[in-house]
Amino acid sequence: MFSTYILVRDGKANTEVPTFVYQTNDHTYVYKKMKRLSKKVTTIDKGDFILAKPVSTDWYYLTDEKGYVKAKNLERQIGEYQIVTSANGEPIYEEAYNKSKPLTTALEGYVVINYGSSKNGLSFVEYGDIFGYIDAAPLNVASSKPMNIENANGANLYLFASTKEKIIAKIPYQSEVKVLSQFADWTFVDSDYGYGYIVTLDITTQEELKKQEEMKKEAERLEAEKIAAEKKAVEKKAEEERKAKIEEEKKKEAQKLAEQQAEAEKKKAAEEAKKKEEQEKAAEKQQAEQQEQATENQQSQGSSGSGKKVALTFDDGPSANVTPQILNTLKKHQVKATFFVLGQGVEKHPNIAKQIADDGHQIAGHSWNHRDLSKLDIPTVEADLKKTNDMIQQVTGVVPAVYRPPYGAINNSMRNQIQLSPILWTVDTLDWKHHNPSQTLQSVKSGTKPGAIILMHDIHQATVTALEDVIQYLKSQGYTFVTIDEL
Ligand code: NI
Repeated sequence: MFSTYILVRDGKANTEVPTFVYQTNDHTYVYKKMKRLSKKVTTIDKGDFILAKPVSTDWYYLTDEKGYVKAKNLERQIGEYQIVTSANGEPIYEEAYNKSKPLTTALEGYVVINYGSSKNGLSFVEYGDIFGYIDAAPLNVASSKPMNIENANGANLYLFASTKEKIIAKIPYQSEVKVLSQFADWTFVDSDYGYGYIVTLDITTQEELKKQEEMKKEAERLEAEKIAAEKKAVEKKAEEERKAKIEEEKKKEAQKLAEQQAEAEKKKAAEEAKKKEEQEKAAEKQQAEQQEQATENQQSQGSSGSGKKVALTFDDGPSANVTPQILNTLKKHQVKATFFVLGQGVEKHPNIAKQIADDGHQIAGHSWNHRDLSKLDIPTVEADLKKTNDMIQQVTGVVPAVYRPPYGAINNSMRNQIQLSPILWTVDTLDWKHHNPSQTLQSVKSGTKPGAIILMHDIHQATVTALEDVIQYLKSQGYTFVTIDEL
């Protein structure tokens, strides 16, 4: 650290003429010549500071005033190094009594040599090559520490801290200097070669340079680390924000999905409710229609005696050649009829029997092999009809509730004891007998009334021909064709 001894200066180093600083101890005359009675050039107040050089034992010469003062009126002043501490610098005035006209401004960190206080409190200082008065308060006593010039080429000593300023001297390599102040890159030194400012590097040792370099590197490393850490923190934050954003979006997506699902379920429920409602309405409507239809049926049935319904019936089939033709004709005219089949015929032509039922016609039994049932005992009749119905059921799936006895032969025992209802006819075409289509038609024309049951046989080719005419005729008369069950 800085040593505590205080360096002093006598104000001669930076001036070409060996002048010194003095303070007057009385009201002092300045004479033109070194004679007490010579002409007076000016007067100097007591306590003022002047620069003068001794020219004899009794007289001093004042360079500025170009005159002489008596030696007994002057007291030699020894200066003290002080450092300017005000941040904006400190003005130096030419006169102690007039602060309006500063000579210059002493800058912070620069060094002045303070020669003492004037009567009004201002200090008389030397600042570079300038002498003047300055406020004492912003000055700090400077302590010094000895150092050596480390620049192998020596150090330039400047009047002020700038390479553009006047160079006072060159201080050789390894010369010792006393350091009093350092600021920016400059150092104020006092040396055998004068006092002033040198570039700080000129007194910096290699070791110190190395240390400074290391410190600089360390500082740079720390700075780089700090920047890297900051960058990392920023990246981490960005990453966290990105993750948070993704998480947020996932959440939103899930919420959206849930909402969509809820919406879909709601919609589905609404659709189901609507569908159910429609079904209920349709069922109600159907019920109403059925009721209406039933009423209509009842009404038409009530008037069926004079209505226009007729049932075509075909006996003794099925046969291989005729029955399919009969079915075709019926289909062509969209007419439904009733077939009383023989059990053995169904057994022989099951496909034709099945076609009868599949086409929507009524199918019922006409005994197994066309025996006269009225001449048999009841159990035999029952067995015959059961065998026939079983065959019909086996082939067509239909269970007949009626039967037609061969030859229309029926007795009271059969009427009373046979479970099935016997169905006979009202119009006998006798087609089996005459094989004449026009006679068949004639029988229909003469015998048919509303509710008639017309008997034909699907085993004769002539009946096929007759059927076409029969259907056309009945239609022309306004008849509708029904099965026995529907009659
Ligand atoms: Ni028959």
